[in-house]
Amino acid sequence: MNPKSVICLLLHSAALWLCTAVAHDGSSIVFTTLGRLDYNFDIFTLPIRGPPSSTTETQITDGKSVNFNGHFPNKTRIQSPTRSDPYLQLIYVTERNGFSNIFYDAVYLNSPTASSGRRSTLEVSERVQVPLLSLEQGQNRLSMKDRPTLTGDYLVYVSTHEDSGVPRTSSVAVYSTHLDSSVTRRLTPRGDADFSPSVSPSGIWTAVASYGPRGWTGEVEDLSTDIYVFLTGDGTRRVKVVEHGGWPSWVDDSTIYFHRRGEDQWWSVYRAILPREGPSSTKSVVVQRVTPPGLHAFTPATSPGNHDFIALATRRPTSSFRHVELFDLVRNEFKELTRHVSPQTHHFNPFISPDSSRVGYHKCRSNGNKQEGSKLFLQNIHSPIPNLSILRIDGSFPSVSPGGDLIAYVNFPGVYVVNRDGSNRHQVYPGNAFSTSWDPVRKGVLYTGAGLEFAPESAEVDIIAITINDVDGATFKKLTTNGKNNAFPSPSPDGKQIVFRSGRTGHKNLYIMDVEVGESGGLYRLTEGPWTDTMCNWSPDGNWIAFASDREDPGSGSFELYVIRPNGTGLRKVIQSGTGGRTNHPWFSPDSKSLVFTSDYRAISAEPISNPHHYQPYGEIFTVKLDGSDLKRLTQNSYEDGTPVWVPHFIKPTDVEWPIDRPGCEFVDLHWLNEVPSYGVLNMHQCGV
Ligand SMILES: *[C@@H]1O[C@H](CO)[C@@H](O)[C@H](O)[C@H]1NC(C)=O
Ligand SMILES: *[C@@H]1O[C@H](CO)[C@@H](O)[C@H](O)[C@H]1NC(C)=O
Ligand SMILES: *[C@@H]1O[C@H](CO)[C@@H](O)[C@H](O)[C@H]1NC(C)=O
Repeated sequence: MNPKSVICLLLHSAALWLCTAVAHDGSSIVFTTLGRLDYNFDIFTLPIRGPPSSTTETQITDGKSVNFNGHFPNKTRIQSPTRSDPYLQLIYVTERNGFSNIFYDAVYLNSPTASSGRRSTLEVSERVQVPLLSLEQGQNRLSMKDRPTLTGDYLVYVSTHEDSGVPRTSSVAVYSTHLDSSVTRRLTPRGDADFSPSVSPSGIWTAVASYGPRGWTGEVEDLSTDIYVFLTGDGTRRVKVVEHGGWPSWVDDSTIYFHRRGEDQWWSVYRAILPREGPSSTKSVVVQRVTPPGLHAFTPATSPGNHDFIALATRRPTSSFRHVELFDLVRNEFKELTRHVSPQTHHFNPFISPDSSRVGYHKCRSNGNKQEGSKLFLQNIHSPIPNLSILRIDGSFPSVSPGGDLIAYVNFPGVYVVNRDGSNRHQVYPGNAFSTSWDPVRKGVLYTGAGLEFAPESAEVDIIAITINDVDGATFKKLTTNGKNNAFPSPSPDGKQIVFRSGRTGHKNLYIMDVEVGESGGLYRLTEGPWTDTMCNWSPDGNWIAFASDREDPGSGSFELYVIRPNGTGLRKVIQSGTGGRTNHPWFSPDSKSLVFTSDYRAISAEPISNPHHYQPYGEIFTVKLDGSDLKRLTQNSYEDGTPVWVPHFIKPTDVEWPIDRPGCEFVDLHWLNEVPSYGVLNMHQCGV
């Protein structure tokens, strides 16, 4: 037994922190999520009557966590023991303590401290998580939770805790949990994935967006989902009711509102009227377009029996912000809500109270909030693996120095180095660069590819060595001289050679050069072919180089992971994500036996239109053994996780703040919602639709 762990046990009760700080011989994975550390989301509400203003808007979640996708339940479940005045109940998704959860709050709106409210939280996850897991998944209890609804005594929600087992298949399924008994039932058929559940006012039916048997084919904008309906009680009588649609919301047990991108390319809200005797097929369903072309309208919300108006989110050509509006179904007109309150903020995923008196939505909390001041440098993600800490970093392409004390990352432009505790951040290279790696032998030396990322083979990108020194900051030296698009440098563990990819022949292949003299000392060509080999990483034991390659289908955008020996022998595919899938950014574990990588292995986990912008919303972090076995999903969310590194140090799994001078809420809305379909309006009038 490791003597340190004995000390750890002895000290355990007295000084747990010491134990974790000194005695773990585990490791850490550090990765990036586009935009996520700027998502300071809280749920807010506005009354539906009267003019919307900042004095009538109320923040109803805690102002600390990341809170989103709310629902106003129609039934009282909890109440303050000391108060009897009316309150608002809220169910919502929250990301706190490194994982996704569903919370239930009672908010006393009349209180002078209404913004924090009176919290009487019921941590539903406790009841939800335990019985959800079958024995074989007992270890891995983490999952993404989403879109909760309370219907009677049942919580209906999305969870990813049951791995689909099939590459490029989402693990997103709808479950219902009886809150008093914790009995949980899967409502989505095995092998299927269901998004965006909505329960009908009677509770009898649930509608979802689903691919059905077709499965996901890689799309990230307009999903080719259909709307299915099934019995909430047990998932039976499942039937497709609408071809092409998402985000269903019931008004009564035979009327569903939903969104789709229409043929004129505008996202619009539609209405589906189902036969009274119950849904049986798409044929008996009448579909009508509700919102006109000329603006994008999506994520509709309804309240039971209310045929007068719905709520929705819009992107108008006149604004680059996403706003919540009402749409008057009688007069066919919009009523803008949030633009009058916070015109320069994005607002997401509205929901209406059962009495139609208020609308809820989430947005980034206001600048006046104290929490805005502190920003996370490292965010602890609850790890499913003992002795492995998983941390999200505020920066791209991180790498950790051999001593474990410094972290390098890039910020498009600029390479930065910062202490692991978030202090002493400084720029070590001003230009654009990507993929950092540290020299294992020379102290304070790191490598990067300097130039534009995602550039063609001929682009001017060079491998540079950056030397950090105390006197004049940093100096850099070009190692490649004559090549095109040289990037992803990874030094051998003895510090003598460096592997990188280069586009010098018109194709991106792998090359090895001397670390000191660089290209002028000669190049060894490691791979050769009319395809792309890239993102190479040299194993800590020196025996293998891992990389991503599209050699099976060059130019298709699909990438598999391979390993090859530094002498060019032993080429072998480690893993691929189905047909046409992506596995990228491999990085060796400290024992050289596994890889961490990013992939679309679990497809997407939410309708992308319900989130801010992610180029690749399917990106999740996985590990796999070198023989392709033991695939493990480490992150569970609907965001773009990428550029992981595996560090041979156990970084304490806690959040680390840093004094970075950057405004919060800097994320952007979906790039593809900026598109204004030019022919849309004209076309619609010509067709008389
Ligand atoms: C985790 O680290 C402790 C302390 O070093 C060690 O005793 C234990 O075996 C490790 N557990 C695993 C699963 O590696
Ligand atoms: C609340 O919803 C349930 C079904 O979820 C329904 O049976 C009940 O009538 C609703 N209550 C009110 C007050 O609307
Ligand atoms: C390549 O390296 C492997 C492992 O060190 C060795 O077994 C093999 O003989 C080498 N092959 C060549 C052609 O050098």
